[in-house]
Amino acid sequence: MRTIIKGGTVVTAGDTIDTSVLIEDGVVKALGYVGSNADSVIDASGLLVMPGGIDPHTHLSLPAGGTFSSDDFFTGHKAAAFGGTTCQIDFAMQVKGGTLAEGLKTWHEKANGKAVIDYAFHMGIVDPTEEALAEIETMPAEGISSLKIFLAYKNVLQLEEEAVLKILKIAGRKGMLTLVHAENGEAIYQTTQELLAQGKNTMRYHSEAHSAIAESEATSRAVDYVEMTGAPLYVVHTTAGQGLQAIRRGRRRGLPIMAETCSQYLVLTDKYLATDSFEGAKYICSPPPKSEWDQSIIYECLADGTIQTVATDHCPFWFEGGKDGRLPGKELGKDCWAKVPNGVPGIEDRLVVLWHKAVNSGLITPEQFVALSSTNAAKIFGMYPRKGTIAPGSDADIVLFNPNKKRVISAKTHHMNVDYNVYEGMEVTGWPEKVFSRGRLLVDGDKWLGEAGTGKYIPRETHAAIL
Ligand code: URP
Ligand code: ZN
Ligand code: ZN
Repeated sequence: MRTIIKGGTVVTAGDTIDTSVLIEDGVVKALGYVGSNADSVIDASGLLVMPGGIDPHTHLSLPAGGTFSSDDFFTGHKAAAFGGTTCQIDFAMQVKGGTLAEGLKTWHEKANGKAVIDYAFHMGIVDPTEEALAEIETMPAEGISSLKIFLAYKNVLQLEEEAVLKILKIAGRKGMLTLVHAENGEAIYQTTQELLAQGKNTMRYHSEAHSAIAESEATSRAVDYVEMTGAPLYVVHTTAGQGLQAIRRGRRRGLPIMAETCSQYLVLTDKYLATDSFEGAKYICSPPPKSEWDQSIIYECLADGTIQTVATDHCPFWFEGGKDGRLPGKELGKDCWAKVPNGVPGIEDRLVVLWHKAVNSGLITPEQFVALSSTNAAKIFGMYPRKGTIAPGSDADIVLFNPNKKRVISAKTHHMNVDYNVYEGMEVTGWPEKVFSRGRLLVDGDKWLGEAGTGKYIPRETHAAIL
């Protein structure tokens, strides 16, 4: 099967060039003058031809807070594709008392038969027994080259310092990357107990417990762990300005520390949570969005390279769940913020939000947009150049993006399996028109052409790039 995309402007992280793309059997065969001998010729006049997005941080069908996140590997992938994302890295989680292999098997089972776009897994370690630590070395053979650890969620997911340092060292030796959720779990735990004892139950107190300093302290500590061990570290979902400044200082000292933020933090601030109304539950996630000042530092760090990736941490829960066949959702915490399942939806909106907020404003270039939304994740997580670029030999994961198309984001029109959208009513300029996964057209305007079970697991390489 040969497809030609002609008349468009190809944008990669490296350059922008008006040229044609030839796709053969799901792979980019050539760029440049490619003739017209093809089964299908797509006219991309006026469109940008960009690598499909890679979302390196999602939670599909995640068990959490007494329920599961509401998107599975079909609905989540369909929504991702509508938003121009063609590859996703989820977190396979060890269960306490279980092995890493068991956790991985569970996540493969969640994806099997449902996936539509390609996907990979990080391995989350929550029970660092001697056996589990020894098992880390078996992960690369399974295509797993990154581990996730938590400095927060005391008594649930949080690791002690002993395990943190051991895991960093093992991962570093094996060419694996450690990802860290950096919030001070003890501080959050104590503040939570104090707030609840005072009857402070409404949504605003989530922000108070998950304060900026709780994140910044843990982030600074994470930078120090890198200095102590020499092992590379990637800080997920950064929101706190002081924490990002610590990462920037660490990078300037040459430390192998990298940072991710998420599209919701480019739009939301702590104002969305500063309410006693249950509406605030829609925005409860950890870490929560911070002040406008913190947000200004996020933007600064996108532009100056302190942040390498923009993910979503997609972890949707129904606002009004537990009825009409819906899983229980945010209503589980109707009487208290501490019982609200943590997480927000966003897998579908990442590219358009980043484009609208950062490219249309002139903060970053289209090439930087591609780097932040796709290429850097492919490089950091060991999938480049198969993923993350448009070059001969790479998978034909391609989005045809109309930089002039205006749309309003809304839960009424989104494809995520959830009843609200954190960007509700936001008008954006820039929208994906067509989305290809390995040469298959999944999305054509508002039409869905994908099929469950066609997404592939992508094993990832160790010793990947440190950007
Ligand atoms: O609130 C969030 N982010 N839930 C998902 C789990 C995590 O901490 O990334
Ligand atoms: Zn996290
Ligand atoms: Zn997460």
